[in-house]
Amino acid sequence: MDKKIKKIGVLTSGGDSPGMNAAIRAVVRTCAYHGLQCQGIYRGFQGLLEGDFIELGPRSVNNIINKGGTMLKSARCKEFMEKEGREKAYQHLKDANIDALVVIGGDGSFKGATTLHKETNIPIIAIPGTIDNDIFGTTHTLGYDTALNTVVEVIDKIRDTASSHNRLFLVEVMGRDCGHIALNAGIGAGAEEILIPEENLGVERLLESLRRSKESGKSSSIVVISEGGKIGKTVFELKEYVEENLSEYDVRVSVLGHMQRGGAPSCFDRVLASRFGVKAVESLMEGKSNFMVGLRNDQIELVPLEKAIKGSTKVDMELLRVSDIMST
Ligand code: F6P
Repeated sequence: MDKKIKKIGVLTSGGDSPGMNAAIRAVVRTCAYHGLQCQGIYRGFQGLLEGDFIELGPRSVNNIINKGGTMLKSARCKEFMEKEGREKAYQHLKDANIDALVVIGGDGSFKGATTLHKETNIPIIAIPGTIDNDIFGTTHTLGYDTALNTVVEVIDKIRDTASSHNRLFLVEVMGRDCGHIALNAGIGAGAEEILIPEENLGVERLLESLRRSKESGKSSSIVVISEGGKIGKTVFELKEYVEENLSEYDVRVSVLGHMQRGGAPSCFDRVLASRFGVKAVESLMEGKSNFMVGLRNDQIELVPLEKAIKGSTKVDMELLRVSDIMST
């Protein structure tokens, strides 16, 4: 391997996700394994333009593989969107003798990273970390699997109370403009209906389906709604609408919110984070830059960062059909 790079900086940016700590650990330990230095950068690009750095060795990342959140903290940084901000950031990188960067985050963070790379030529490899799973070029982003498990676990609990009171629960999940969490967790938790941004089911079809469900003898129901859903009503407006039109239903709303971002990462996310971290550092050592590491067909591959940013992910529409059949 070509070892021109001596010191790598690592940061986490954007919304945190379970597995980010495991990825930091993997980057730090891969650096140590290959005799490179590693510098942690606090609060994403905000810390980069303030020079808020910390030296990280293999023992600095003990006991974090199992922790949610990110030990390096995260932020969404407006100043970094300006050229002046990025110039400041680059100066701090030079002052600290950082030769290359690993950026762990979502597509917003990737845009900042690729712009910095273009302006300064600093080698950068990105690791996809977001619960939304909305990054092109990888079947899984870090934290997605954990978030799915969290949502399923919570809906299982909601089902207990829903069935005790013969109620309908509208459960709103995260995912921004993408229905991966709603669709997969919805099927996993046995939801009667799943509303995702990619397909507008329409309120009338929802009512129809709930009517059928009652007629078929179901006493309680769960509807999973993605926060980016296109039904044109908030989850609270939808509750009122259903109650007005289907008086037989006693409806409750549960917005799961940020609990979906926390908690110990699943084994899948820990392994993925470790593989991503190794690939990111070794790719930089091989002289690669401006790529994202991604998972495809169980292999870790490099995806051009531009593609990862511009491409869009697709939910598997067959899963909607599966969900329909399952709610018979
Ligand atoms: O991108 C991750 C995510 O949790 C989305 O699912 C959600 O829409 C958004 O971040 C919430 O952002 P914030 O934590 O800034 O409120």
